[in-house]
Amino acid sequence: MPKDFLSISQLSEVELDYLLNNTEKFKELFSRSVKKVPLLRGKNVLTLFAEPSTRTASSFEIAAKRLSADVSNFDVSNSSFSKGESVKDTIETLEAMRIDYLVIRHKASGMAKIISELTKACVINAGDGAHAHPTQALLDGFTLKSNLKTVASKKVLICGDVLHGRVAKSTARIFMKMGVEVAFLGPGSLMPKHDLGSIKCFNCYEDAWKWKPDVMYYLRVQSERQDNQFFPHSSEYHKLFGITQDRLKALEDSGTFLMHPGPVNRGVELCDDALEYEKCLINEQVENGIAARMAVLSWLTSPSSSL
Ligand code: NCD
Repeated sequence: MPKDFLSISQLSEVELDYLLNNTEKFKELFSRSVKKVPLLRGKNVLTLFAEPSTRTASSFEIAAKRLSADVSNFDVSNSSFSKGESVKDTIETLEAMRIDYLVIRHKASGMAKIISELTKACVINAGDGAHAHPTQALLDGFTLKSNLKTVASKKVLICGDVLHGRVAKSTARIFMKMGVEVAFLGPGSLMPKHDLGSIKCFNCYEDAWKWKPDVMYYLRVQSERQDNQFFPHSSEYHKLFGITQDRLKALEDSGTFLMHPGPVNRGVELCDDALEYEKCLINEQVENGIAARMAVLSWLTSPSSSL
């Protein structure tokens, strides 16, 4: 078992199947009256979110509690992290507290990896800059598998700010590992530049629609990571790339699924009614996130945990 979960690229096919199957098993627990299992009893999980989060932070907390772990949240705004203490010194302090699992979100790409090398605790990357968000990808892979009878050769169109979005990268990777055909849609200025550069990119909604996607996976425009104006205006963006009322009708007629990692900017990537669409899987993604994170937490093992 690995110590850390930092990216989708680290997963072998066997490990990916194992995590998807365990996500299913943990999800089965949710319909029982007692949803807790004692797998992580006596272990400490610390969540350290140095960037805003609603669903990921609470999803990890619920997942860890359902595994019976003790959970603490590192209050970054009131910590020495914000007083200029170096990451190394902060982690050494946490190390002295003998934390077993550290769940970290940080604006710097690669921060989870750096921290994993400084601590004996198992480190889970809950989002590092524009780089990776592997547990989001796992829950997305699981949601896709639960809704499509077979995933191999199905088509997923990932729409929006791929350049700045970590979800786009991790989720595209997991879908491709599962045998799904992936393409991107968005303004040319927001398409990937390097590693995912070989994936087909559409810059026109109508062309992308002709490709006949089985699933449209929408992303939020990551304005907090944009140092430039990448498109003229959000209403223009909605008209060109978003799910408008007319496009929603076409999705309904063809039975195309709609996904989004949240938070949604209504009226930019999706019109209001899209959230009520019966094949919109956003709430299911949130529910599956808890099971996927339980699968990850119960899978990792620190070499020091046998001491
Ligand atoms: C995403 C994130 O933080 O990367 N949200 C999430 O974790 N559910 C996507 C986003 O912020 O747009």
